[in-house]
Amino acid sequence: MNDKKFYITTPIYYPSGKLHIGHAYCTVATDAMARYKRLCGYDVMFLTGTDEHGQKIEDKAREAGVTPQQFVDDIVTAPGGVLDLWKLMNIKYDRFIRTTDAYHVSAIQKIFKQMHDNGDIYKGAYKGKYCKPCESFWTESQLVDGKCPDCGREVVDAEEEAYFFRASKYADRVRDLLMNTDFLEPKSRVNEMVNNFIDCEGGLQDLCVSRTSFTWGVPVDFDPGHVVYVWLDALFNYMTALGYQNDKYNDVEKFWPADVHFMGKEIVRFHSIYWPAFLMSLNLPLPKKVYGSGWLLLDGGKMGKSTGNVVDPYLLAERYGVDALRFFLMRSFPFGSDGNFSNELLIQTINTDLANDLGNLVSRTTAMAEKYFGGKLPEARQADHELDGSLISLASGLRGRYEEQMEKFQFHNALEEIFKVIQRANKYIDENAPWALAKDMDANGARLAAVLYNLLEAVRVCTVLLIPFMPESCDKIFAQIGADEAARTWDSAAQWGVLPAAVSVTKGENLFPRIDMSKELAELEKLQEAAKKAALPAVEIEPQLEEQVDFDTFCKSDFRAVKVKSCENVKKSDKLLKFILDDGTGVDRQILSGIAKWYKPEELVGKTLVAIVNLPPRKMMGRESQGMLISAVHTEKGEECLHLLMVDDAIPAGAKLC
Ligand code: MSP
Repeated sequence: MNDKKFYITTPIYYPSGKLHIGHAYCTVATDAMARYKRLCGYDVMFLTGTDEHGQKIEDKAREAGVTPQQFVDDIVTAPGGVLDLWKLMNIKYDRFIRTTDAYHVSAIQKIFKQMHDNGDIYKGAYKGKYCKPCESFWTESQLVDGKCPDCGREVVDAEEEAYFFRASKYADRVRDLLMNTDFLEPKSRVNEMVNNFIDCEGGLQDLCVSRTSFTWGVPVDFDPGHVVYVWLDALFNYMTALGYQNDKYNDVEKFWPADVHFMGKEIVRFHSIYWPAFLMSLNLPLPKKVYGSGWLLLDGGKMGKSTGNVVDPYLLAERYGVDALRFFLMRSFPFGSDGNFSNELLIQTINTDLANDLGNLVSRTTAMAEKYFGGKLPEARQADHELDGSLISLASGLRGRYEEQMEKFQFHNALEEIFKVIQRANKYIDENAPWALAKDMDANGARLAAVLYNLLEAVRVCTVLLIPFMPESCDKIFAQIGADEAARTWDSAAQWGVLPAAVSVTKGENLFPRIDMSKELAELEKLQEAAKKAALPAVEIEPQLEEQVDFDTFCKSDFRAVKVKSCENVKKSDKLLKFILDDGTGVDRQILSGIAKWYKPEELVGKTLVAIVNLPPRKMMGRESQGMLISAVHTEKGEECLHLLMVDDAIPAGAKLC
């Protein structure tokens, strides 16, 4: 039996829209970590899934005219959905949980009841602010400029009867956990959590854990009308997916507590404060670590924060290959910090590391083995040359340096160590000048064979350690350099001379072709712009005002049918049209309107429009405007559209609209 076990999780995703490369970031890191542990011989459980309840999903489903279950089913399972994206990104998870799975739902009901029965969940009334996109409660004082401090979006008033979790009871234990252990990393996140949420004014507040104003959630079975707060429901996925409070699985004993939960920094609060407090309430062991990654930023802002500010992983994977994309994400940004995504950085990383350094090393080495020895190295060698020492010692020590970084989740540093060896190996080619040796094979053949063998070994060691990041490309490289299963293992990465002396090499396809930066940038921008447009809602209309207007106030507005006698562009303005209108009084009325973008003056003459005529006159570009024309506005594919309200010609000028 394998007693080396490793349980790692990634956040379960809200299936509320299309996933972008920012979402893929944390999951690719989790996959790389899981593959690394498997490579090291661990029995790994890698859990991911979807977090399918909550008000946001219920609202979106209503907008789409489907049930919430249909809505989430579609996003999880449809082409381009969550499962599809993980397949595309080559994410090898061991288990996938959906919080709408029956076993999870009933487990959450039991958990809620247990916490209620032990006195940690009590009934009260919630009054405060709620951010629907983040499914987070806030007090007035926590808001930033009146908006959600996490995502910057509008919050709504929430007032309802609710159950509360006695988080306050666990404040001291959670503070101790954060301050005095390695539970939360990077360490830089600890102070923010403790200062803002535990040692803040009023201390750690009890958490509202049920809602009554909507129904899409796990029902509280002993109090109909309440559904469990989505974060309590979601966080326990890490245990229900192992079989906690259900018979579907039986892995709690084997894998709990988790070795590490990975997540983006904005949800560290839930994982490092409420999650341990929930577990303390049930006397369950705590996960060993939670690690908050940084965000992928686009133009300085969090990717995914607004429509159009996203990068489509399908587009990039199709153009450069999934491995190049996975590699770029892990190589370019330190996992704990924010990173600026740009097409330029992506192409530059592919060109520098993959095409120039790794691709070149593999293709030069295999090409020379074919050219000089027909692909099969002779066993006669002149090894132990003075030029070999530094390459061999650098490559032989690589696994240790790499492991040190991987254990700290410093993926970019682990890759940096590998690339130091790759660069050294490329330099070794230049130092040994195989093409010069090949000029006199009788004298130098044995030395040339040794040089090529050392290069193959350097490639092999690096490739073993690249498996977690680029599994498919590594398989191709192994095939090219003639590495069998035994030469692809973790143990073999710390050994030199594992390839057979008479190794067979086949030069294969060029794994990472160089990209023409300027041509590609232009092409990518065009494609991404088109995708952005296509992703915009076809028609978007402004939400209706919630504030009511009383009838008497409304009746004070005087709307009239007006007939256009003449219409012309206002000089020096590209927006304004000047209308002379018949309003039925016998005196011409002049109105200026900023609609030149949508209408040519001549097409409006003779039309009957609607105007509000008792607004105070105002000056525009030095001319008086006596009222306002009424139009309908909406947004289509991101473009503002406007239509003047036109009425039947049979309606006489001056008729009152009421
Ligand atoms: N459903 C919750 C997680 C519940 S875990 C018990 C959630 N879902 S999410 O879909 O909004 O986000 C999933 C993950 O994607 C989070 O870790 C989040 O930080 C991450 N990211 C979303 N946009 C991101 C970037 N632009 N960059 C990096 N990670 C990003 O939160």
